[in-house]
Amino acid sequence: MKLFRAVLFCMTSAAIAHASVTHTSFGTLPSGAAVEIYTLKSPAVEIRVMTYGARVVSLATKDRDGKMGDVVLGYANIEGYLGDTKTYFGSVPGRYANRIALGKFTLDGKQYQIPINNAPNALHGGPDGFASRNWTAKEIPNGVEFTLISPDGDQGFPGKMTAHVRYTLEGSTVRIVYSATSDKPTVVNLTNHSYFNLGGEASGTILNEKLTLDADQYTPIDATSIPLGQLAPVAGTPFDFTKPESVGARIGADDVQLKNGSGYDHNLVLRGKSGELRPAAKVYDATSGRVLSVETTEPGVQFYSGNFLDGTLTGISGVKYVQHSGLCLETQHFPDSPNRPNFPSTELKPGQTYHSETTWTFTTEK
Ligand code: BGC
Repeated sequence: MKLFRAVLFCMTSAAIAHASVTHTSFGTLPSGAAVEIYTLKSPAVEIRVMTYGARVVSLATKDRDGKMGDVVLGYANIEGYLGDTKTYFGSVPGRYANRIALGKFTLDGKQYQIPINNAPNALHGGPDGFASRNWTAKEIPNGVEFTLISPDGDQGFPGKMTAHVRYTLEGSTVRIVYSATSDKPTVVNLTNHSYFNLGGEASGTILNEKLTLDADQYTPIDATSIPLGQLAPVAGTPFDFTKPESVGARIGADDVQLKNGSGYDHNLVLRGKSGELRPAAKVYDATSGRVLSVETTEPGVQFYSGNFLDGTLTGISGVKYVQHSGLCLETQHFPDSPNRPNFPSTELKPGQTYHSETTWTFTTEK
């Protein structure tokens, strides 16, 4: 029986194709702190993640002919990341990913103010959020766990928070597991802000990539990108990606919501039960044949079509990133939830553990 189990275990592990994990230096921060970069490698995928911002730096996957290509936007060195406070390439924004209206919220009768960094709102946890922190790293089976301790009052948020982000690679699947605890009631919303371009990071725009979103509703926004409050049906609007549609097909439509976001920059309400890992999105690039399938435990996903890239940033392979060079699928709780009692709650109480999980699976199609 024991032998049978051992054989079965070996067969299953071989089928999953475990990843090799190595690490090296990725330079130093102005403070002198060392930045480490971890490479997780399987036969199908090679992903590099670093301690600064718990960021994905590169992610190579196979095209339909088996040729590897980097499918996320990023920089060649730490200086590139330090010189860019706007795009959040590959990072884990926090403590609150996306926007909090006017940077204000009330918890247990007390008002908190997060510094405004996307006037008039707070974006991605304020100007010195988790994306610009040097996390500590620990190797784990098939990957790496990053840890950050955020002190009480950090960027205005109450409670000392301990946050963990685990990246692991199994075969063609990258798994990201987020967890957090706090010693006082607080709010939390973590995501990954990778910009995907399945044609390759230097291949131009994502406008021809075909997107499917497992969402029948979305949260319309005002001119400052704050949700208006209601969940609106996507049916009959440019936000209907329930069937595969190219990103560019309707992006220029005369639609007030697209104008408010300067393109797609909206939270889609995912079908199914929040807390359960279920399909969220699929992207297909006909040129390379690459397919990305996203699953998540989160209730929403911010679909952002790289509207504010403007050709001024030079990427990892020397190519300038023009508008729509990449698209983000930020699995998340809805924007401005701390001010929206009708949205799923982002409160975290002492004794509770925040848990969130997202997977990216890379395959190819003809
Ligand atoms: C936001 C965009 C913002 C981008 C980069 C996205 O999550 O929704 O409005 O430009 O992040 O900061």
